[in-house]
Amino acid sequence: MIHAKTYYIVTFGCQMNERDSETLAGMLEEMGYVLTEDKTKADVVLLNTCSVRENADKRFFGVLGQLKHVHMERPDMTVGVCGCMMQQDHVTTTLQKKYPWVDLVFGTHNIHRFPQMLQEVRQRNVNLVDVWDEGGAIVEHLPAKRIDPYKAYVNIMYGCNNFCTYCIVPYTRGRERSRQPEEILQEVRLLAQSGTKEVTLLGQNVNSYGKSSHGVGSYHSDESRGGMDFSGLIREIDAIPGIERIRFMTSHPKDISADLIQAYGECAHLCKHIHLPVQSGSDRILAKMNRHYSRKQYLDIVAQLRDVCPDIAVTTDIIVGFPGETEEDFQDTMDLVRRVRYDSAFTFLYSPRKGTPAEHYADQIPSEIQHDRFNRLIGEIHSIQEEKSAAYQGKILSVLVEGPSRTNPEIFTGRTDSSKIVDFPGTSAMTGKILPVRITRARTFSLYGRVEGEDELQAQRSPAE
Ligand code: SAH
Ligand code: SF4
Ligand code: F3S
Repeated sequence: MIHAKTYYIVTFGCQMNERDSETLAGMLEEMGYVLTEDKTKADVVLLNTCSVRENADKRFFGVLGQLKHVHMERPDMTVGVCGCMMQQDHVTTTLQKKYPWVDLVFGTHNIHRFPQMLQEVRQRNVNLVDVWDEGGAIVEHLPAKRIDPYKAYVNIMYGCNNFCTYCIVPYTRGRERSRQPEEILQEVRLLAQSGTKEVTLLGQNVNSYGKSSHGVGSYHSDESRGGMDFSGLIREIDAIPGIERIRFMTSHPKDISADLIQAYGECAHLCKHIHLPVQSGSDRILAKMNRHYSRKQYLDIVAQLRDVCPDIAVTTDIIVGFPGETEEDFQDTMDLVRRVRYDSAFTFLYSPRKGTPAEHYADQIPSEIQHDRFNRLIGEIHSIQEEKSAAYQGKILSVLVEGPSRTNPEIFTGRTDSSKIVDFPGTSAMTGKILPVRITRARTFSLYGRVEGEDELQAQRSPAE
């Protein structure tokens, strides 16, 4: 019997990278490869990299280091590296100098060419480096191996034009390009037909969907002629039968529209959750970050959202220790956190990125001060989270059941509309369903409960079942 060739993909970074890895996996499977659980045994190993903070870079080089020995023992293995780090010249130079054994290097703009590149590398036994500086036309209808049968990521736009001064993404993902609405809607319809209940619309700044005219064939919404903007797209998806939950990542506060806020009151399937990265609560720092909103504007948006949807969960990203951040600036962030009372927040230590403006700003903050502020901030965030979590005790929440928990096959896990994790005793028949769960125990980061009506269901079952 001939064994099928196998593959393994390590994905670093954000949902966009996860979605790209689904495309790469789909291509590999079309080429006849099957997934293996053990990367040391795979015929093709891909590392899909992220460059957003130094930690991500370090983790990539760590995994690459481990693979070196495996590759030496198994020269027939193909090691490919791709993703955001590859869009940076200093990274590809380092790879060529220090890791010449890596077989294939490509970037974020040419993943559609992966099958040809892989074939060339494997058949001709050559090394290949192919990184494009800019994204060309959006390539549609690529295969994808979706990780989850009930939840799917759907790209609506690529790239970013915002150039926040700390951020590498505009350099690694290029200019903003939006997919045609019909392509997006058709993808969502097909997903719904195959059982997907929840879609997460992806873009670095979904609020500017259709706003940029860059890129061949990219969608430019002409609102004077009834073109579709982001909230219009949500309204269309809301009407697709079978789609029960709509989420999106990430929305930039400067571009949030009144109609998107309105949509929270009108679209039955739009989840009561918004991830609205604030980055800092200080106007001075927000200006240095090039964010184009003030703390007041941000707080006003949150108030408007809560007017329309009182129990909306609000989550955020915050960077601590941006160059020049004083204790007073940091106190502004603490104050904003207390005012908004976030349901949860991702907090990051500022990490200088090569080629970004902030890399050269004066007053880089010493690491001890960064860490001290970071610890105080997460202390505050966690205590708010704990209080907010406690308020769910006794409530019934609807939960999309994802499957058994990692640690106990009898405890199932899922997420609420507002993206909170809920664990409960369950059975595999519940997976993929949206069920009412009564919360019996609130913990800081997750809730515990019991499926409503489950006791009665159990009692009705015959003993033979
Ligand atoms: N497009 C998204 C964010 C993508 S990056 C947005 O604008 O909201 C995800 C998060 O990483 C950012 O929100 C920011 O908080 C953090 N981040 C980005 N660059 C960083 C850096 N150089 N140092 C620390 N955190 C950073
Ligand atoms: Fe980075 Fe800012 Fe673009 Fe987000 S909006 S990806 S933080 S440059
Ligand atoms: Fe990282 Fe690239 Fe996403 S830098 S956060 S993988 S867009």
